[in-house]
Amino acid sequence: MRAALQGPPLTVTTIEIRLDEPIGTISPRLYGHFAEHLGRCCYDGLWDSAEVTGDHVAGRFRRDVVEALHELPVPLLRWPGGCYADHYHWRDGIGPVSARPRRLGMSCSLQVEDDNSLGTHEFLQLCAELGAEPYLAGNVGTGSPQELCDWLEYCNSPRDTTLTRERAGNGRAAPFDVRLWGVGNENWGCGGNFDAVTYALEYRRYATMLRHIDPSAELVICGEEDDWNAKLLDTLAADVHLVDHLSIHTYWRNGGPETGFTEDDYYALLTEARGTETFIERTAEIIADAAGDKQRIGIALDEWGVWHPEARRLGPASRRPITYEQANTLRDALAVALTLHGFHRQCNVLTLANLAQIVNVLQAPIMTDGDRMWRTATYHALRLHARHIAATAVPATTIAGDILSDGSAAVTGSASTGGHGTTISIVNQHYDRGAEVHVSGTRGSGEATADLLAADNPASGNDAQVPDRLIPVPLSIAGNDRDGWRIDLPPHSLATLSFGHND
Ligand code: AHR
Repeated sequence: MRAALQGPPLTVTTIEIRLDEPIGTISPRLYGHFAEHLGRCCYDGLWDSAEVTGDHVAGRFRRDVVEALHELPVPLLRWPGGCYADHYHWRDGIGPVSARPRRLGMSCSLQVEDDNSLGTHEFLQLCAELGAEPYLAGNVGTGSPQELCDWLEYCNSPRDTTLTRERAGNGRAAPFDVRLWGVGNENWGCGGNFDAVTYALEYRRYATMLRHIDPSAELVICGEEDDWNAKLLDTLAADVHLVDHLSIHTYWRNGGPETGFTEDDYYALLTEARGTETFIERTAEIIADAAGDKQRIGIALDEWGVWHPEARRLGPASRRPITYEQANTLRDALAVALTLHGFHRQCNVLTLANLAQIVNVLQAPIMTDGDRMWRTATYHALRLHARHIAATAVPATTIAGDILSDGSAAVTGSASTGGHGTTISIVNQHYDRGAEVHVSGTRGSGEATADLLAADNPASGNDAQVPDRLIPVPLSIAGNDRDGWRIDLPPHSLATLSFGHND
């Protein structure tokens, strides 16, 4: 299909791929997701509580949701919070379902009634089904080092102890071997309102004890903005070896309403999304200054995405009752694509990332309403990037083309090369101008395909009534490896071009 372009003649954009300048590997961990016991994410979205009968754990995850997520894919999944993690006691979620306590949980100032039917075994079973690596967030706010050590022993120890016998009694003899452990969440705020120095010392205590239980566990310290991050690492000084990843979060909040946004709002959101890469770069500098060669600390952007005013707890636009659900449009999908491109470029310092959140909450790729389930614009943007996962990122530079009012290029891309061949994903950020895009630098078999995500209106999205209003469609591509390739991109659109093997 040739994209229907209206308006003034297209500006020619040229993007050059440089296959001989590998940046690094795009770890599957950069395409992670986040499931919190918040709103309808875990209960109702992932987990169908209505099906809970007796103690049988099989088959309670929503099959439609699991299948759609499997296709996405979901290489990494963080659980159970978020702010919820610092109220969560893991023992509440093991053993016979009928005997599990019903607890009052808390996240984002929202009280959560939790029957604990989705606990450790169920979550780890979901990860196995999805092919996702689990990432467990521990409780520092109301927990103790002993409680987190016990969870680690329960999940990972191969030894014969009361806890590992209990694990076996609950249906899992072999260790789960969970690598990633968060030591609290947002401990500068909901996770206990610590100051950086106090939290750093608390972290040191937790991490020391956790390492005794499983020296190969990768520990994630809770970061925030630059000052907190620098103070944290300075305080740890000689003990910085206890840190494997530094967690940071980013939520874009400046793009106006979820659907009724103006052109200025549109650009404001995309600018904020692009700023995520700058935040990663800044954090990498802080880590390098503090840890230098002493320790390689990765950046864990373990919550990111757009947080529209309708899904905020406070403010005139807040939807009531508050569920943290929001509309998801093509504009949000473009913001995701631009952010993923930054992840590819920063793949040597960014070690993991989790979009917030996986179902029904914030920038969810999947939404549900009763029996209905639909894939959002964000889902399709992620899916259009799947070929980059585990490939080698290579530079893709815009040499010429339209410039936005902030001086940046309107059409940008990110390329990778690997077992699938070469892939480039391209965003035309221009609100109302199409672009003729020329791509050079591929070396392939001469085969090329392209897929496009576009709509007349950037506020277009899917919903329960029209679940497939916005879906990727094939896009016509002309050219060859020697002379370069050409596509026409509509305004506010995203495309992925795939070229055959280059060897
Ligand atoms: O994702 C929603 C919330 O945002 C998380 O619980 C918290 O970590 C962050 O403030």
